[in-house]
Amino acid sequence: MYDLAIIGGGPAGYTAAERAAAGGLNTILFEKANLGGTCLNEGCIPTKALLYSSKLYHYAQTGAKYGVGADNVRFEYDKIVARKNKIVRKLNAGIRSKMKENNVTVITGFATVASATEEVVTIACNGETYEAKTMILAAGSETTIPPIKGVDTAEFWTSREALEAKEVPASIAIIGGGVIGMEFAGLFNQFGSQVTVIEMAPEILPPIDAEIAAMLRQNYEKQGVKFYIGAKVMEVKTGAVVFETADGEQTLETEKTLLCVGRRPALKELGLEALNLERFRNGIAVDAQMRTSMKNIFAVGDVTAFSMLAHTATREAEVAVNTLLGKDDAMSYKAIPGVVYTYPEIAGTGKTEQELQREGTAYKVLKLPMTFSGRFVVENEGGNGLCKIITNEAGAIIGAHMIGNPSSELITIASLAIEAGWDVERLKTLVFPHPSVSEIFKETLFA
Ligand code: NAI
Repeated sequence: MYDLAIIGGGPAGYTAAERAAAGGLNTILFEKANLGGTCLNEGCIPTKALLYSSKLYHYAQTGAKYGVGADNVRFEYDKIVARKNKIVRKLNAGIRSKMKENNVTVITGFATVASATEEVVTIACNGETYEAKTMILAAGSETTIPPIKGVDTAEFWTSREALEAKEVPASIAIIGGGVIGMEFAGLFNQFGSQVTVIEMAPEILPPIDAEIAAMLRQNYEKQGVKFYIGAKVMEVKTGAVVFETADGEQTLETEKTLLCVGRRPALKELGLEALNLERFRNGIAVDAQMRTSMKNIFAVGDVTAFSMLAHTATREAEVAVNTLLGKDDAMSYKAIPGVVYTYPEIAGTGKTEQELQREGTAYKVLKLPMTFSGRFVVENEGGNGLCKIITNEAGAIIGAHMIGNPSSELITIASLAIEAGWDVERLKTLVFPHPSVSEIFKETLFA
């Protein structure tokens, strides 16, 4: 009998397996496809590989602003995709060898829970059964296909097919101006597609700071992306999208359509119905130790339908394993950084103004254009950006939101301040390297 069975080999599952095995638990991991999950195989990593190539192409095209010209700048999309695939294979092999080093038993196949008591969980996979004292559910999420007319018959892409595209489409309609929509809008626009985004909400990127989301939209509009916000998609056809705005119904003809209106926990056919685990939204409810309503079963990552980010999943996995190993640990969602890898990048952590307004909590805002950072000006000719720090009435930092490069690398500073309970006066005393874009935090505090 194994000490621990893990279903799902994404960031949540493989982190749990590595930490548990290193902590002395006899661990078995089930993965239906490739280790690394959505994040490595068809999400975070492959998109960033493609986006990096698009960024280099952009720099080469716009270098003249910095006094560096290049003629006949071109890209070869098949080579860009081949490089992306090579990176995925390399990182995949890295995870596989980590599992081996730690003596984790890895089974490739679709696992289902055959039965479970609070003493033993029996898992069926590839015609065999396996028993474990405890289980971590880390089965991840899948693309939501909304019940829009035509989705059963029309051809469209999800992020999976968009990543596998061999060529850049001449035009693409993106349904859903969320995180996936914005990253692909940037990518395809950069490589010359006519990109149109159709978003149902009144602004793109709904959970993100609304002022910053609007700045990105305006920036993208300048780069040639067309937006319909507050637009309701009525029908998806092969080569067209029918949608309704305040101006009436419109039909947009398009070479490709990308549907990205969210993801939902992948819980189907796992054999969980009989366990009657308590639910949260469309996922599994957990406590601060990531334990489900059955004390020997934990759930981490996207199956909890909570934060749905790879880095959250990794930390949740650590909390679950530490709990299994008898160490005190608890999950904190207070300062989870969120990044949208657009150009310019967006990053945020902690509370947004919109959340605080909904809660009816009083707050203060300090904000400053990114151009107050010398390094930002040096490296972003003609670029704009914003840094916004949110405090409670006593001055403690409770949120930070920014647009401008390289926000993805800076946001952890604000997360650290929030987790540590620092207030404005304390953060003001921190010494930042000069010149660095990170200094914008300090400048904002004195604004
Ligand atoms: P999302 O939840 O970020 O955005 C979906 C968007 O679609 C929302 O703006 C919503 O208002 C809109 N929408 C919903 N129904 C619609 C309809 N019928 N017509 C038009 N618009 C509609 O979901 P997305 O972009 O699919 O991403 C899925 C998940 O992947 C997210 O939960 C995110 O956590 C994760 N992800 C994270 C990334 C990152 O951290 N950089 C990158 C990509 C994905």
